[in-house]
Amino acid sequence: MSKPAVYPPSAEFVSKARVQGMEGYRALHEEAVNHPETFWGGVAEREIHWFEKWTKVVDWNPPDVKWFVGGKLNVSYNCLDRHLDTPRKNKAAILWEGEPGEQRAITYQELHRLVVRFASVLKSRGYKAGDRAIIYMPMIPEAVIAMLACTRLGVIHSVVFGGFSAEALKARIQDLGATAVITADGGYRRGKEIKLKPAVDEALLDCPDVRDCIVYRRTGSDTPMKEGRDNWWHTLDETASEDCPAVPLDSEHPLYVLYTSGTTGKPKGILHTTGGYLTYVTATMKWVFDLREEDTYWCSADIGWVTGHSYIVYGPLAAGATNVMYEGAPDYPAFDRWWRIVEKYKVSILYTSPTAIRALIRQGDQWPDAHDLSSLRLLGSVGEPINPAAWEWYHRVIGKGRCPIVDTWWQTETGGILIAPMPGAVPLKPGSGTLPMPGLVADIVDLNGFEVPPGKEGYLVLRRPWPSMARTIWGDPDRYKEQYWTKVPGAYFTGDAARCDEDGYYWILGRVDDVMNVSGHRLSTMEVESALVKHAAVAEAAVVGKPHEITGQAVCCFVTLKKGQHDHDALGKELRQWVAHEIGAFARPEEIRFTDALPKTRSGKIMRRLLREIVTNHTVAGDVTTLEDMSVITSLAAQQDED
Ligand code: WT7
Repeated sequence: MSKPAVYPPSAEFVSKARVQGMEGYRALHEEAVNHPETFWGGVAEREIHWFEKWTKVVDWNPPDVKWFVGGKLNVSYNCLDRHLDTPRKNKAAILWEGEPGEQRAITYQELHRLVVRFASVLKSRGYKAGDRAIIYMPMIPEAVIAMLACTRLGVIHSVVFGGFSAEALKARIQDLGATAVITADGGYRRGKEIKLKPAVDEALLDCPDVRDCIVYRRTGSDTPMKEGRDNWWHTLDETASEDCPAVPLDSEHPLYVLYTSGTTGKPKGILHTTGGYLTYVTATMKWVFDLREEDTYWCSADIGWVTGHSYIVYGPLAAGATNVMYEGAPDYPAFDRWWRIVEKYKVSILYTSPTAIRALIRQGDQWPDAHDLSSLRLLGSVGEPINPAAWEWYHRVIGKGRCPIVDTWWQTETGGILIAPMPGAVPLKPGSGTLPMPGLVADIVDLNGFEVPPGKEGYLVLRRPWPSMARTIWGDPDRYKEQYWTKVPGAYFTGDAARCDEDGYYWILGRVDDVMNVSGHRLSTMEVESALVKHAAVAEAAVVGKPHEITGQAVCCFVTLKKGQHDHDALGKELRQWVAHEIGAFARPEEIRFTDALPKTRSGKIMRRLLREIVTNHTVAGDVTTLEDMSVITSLAAQQDED
């Protein structure tokens, strides 16, 4: 393999950066590895306002961990109140643009007022620390307001991505034991209204514990309301109070639960807590995004994913940033919508996904070229490995060769960015997340936990605790231990394969488990399989991720049918729609392949590994000695050749 290109930061970038040069990075990293308590204690003291100081920085009994033990703080206080006696008071916290084109600029003072009012509404309806609320909203400022209002009271929120179906929403409400749902009539995407309330109504048929459904009017379309349960946000706001102080909460108080796909059909509710999480996301805003007071920062993720939590809401607002927030699709009304936004708001930091970059590349350079992108100074990437060709385009066409790209590796479970360059310090290699954050000890190991030599592929594990790590899976601590802490003894198992090169740079190769990554969204093969076998015509289903030029992976389903006459074309369409209805439109399979049998081991386990090989390499070269019936593979591979 040829040696990859290396891009050191420019002298100009370094001279203004928060962390300058490799010496700067190494000093931080070494200090954090050698003296974690003083290092993280210092960060927490500098970055966060505490009502009461902690007595111990970290209490580590793997896999149980507590950070800033005994400390008391409030997240909404840190994101809002503490900025109000500084010059940030009248700084824009959110610059929002709706898809149809409306604009709202909300200052820190105004955001504070709106959050206090909504928190007072929740409080007056009896919600208090420890209660759970679901937030199911479009990308509008009220989604942020709802999140912060919950944190003001200590209500544990769980944001459900607006693209999830009623079924998926219901499962999350029930698992969490939520008693409130905060939603909107709908939002806009590609010029159409996407309704949300009907999915809530459907879900709530089976959620008797939900006492309140609060509906923000975004689109104004006809929305039936259920007497006694549903209320309009604006009606409740009429009697809201502007006196609703932030509640001091324990550092380990649960902040939110975010559901993500695991290797079974049931999503995992990843629990993050307060003090360590906020400290870590605030610190990484500065280390990775080199955030300065005058930056205009735009993370294009949706609030429903962890990227939106950590790097639209909590990190940026705690750090006092100006956040651009956009409601709709990147290609509406035309392919230059994003570049219009960058030009209009003079965005200086843009954080997005490789899928979005590849989709934009396909439309041609004329779209970005028609706009003034000179305000940009730093670019970011997250969610999946970025292929070097997409990296080079992002660097050349969007960054004009001036802007470093921070390729940030992390997970829902890690809460914050763990492997990424500090842009004024670390020379970049396209496709590599480069080096670990301060104090993080990442290793590449085999299944016995032994380190593999540089250049060799292995499992990525993390050996030390970090402040924003997940604490458990909501309601299922055993699954948490089993999934993350037993595969390699004493280490956190990431589920990713990776290799480390001779410079210590990490190259993430992708998941090693039955988890797909479609457009940077995590999806479990089992979740899609469970959805498919619920359909009356389906006997068995096996689902694998298939390489896809734009979305990284696409969902490919192998299906055997129950006896009877079937029209494969019509049924294929119906099953794709079925999965979208069961899980959400983003999970809609790219392909349904009907087959007479699935490859299985003698004990009856479906060998997804072989199906992955078929969709990737169009043939099977790997070990098939455990396969029960070889003819299955021959016929599947033959079917592939006909495609
Ligand atoms: C999985 C986590 C982190 C927020 C968005 C996704 C993959 C994530 C990168 C990257 C290569 C990446 C990994 C990881 N991933 N970022 N920069 N390079 N792979 O969060 O849904 O929890 O998914 O996304 O496979 O395990 P998530």
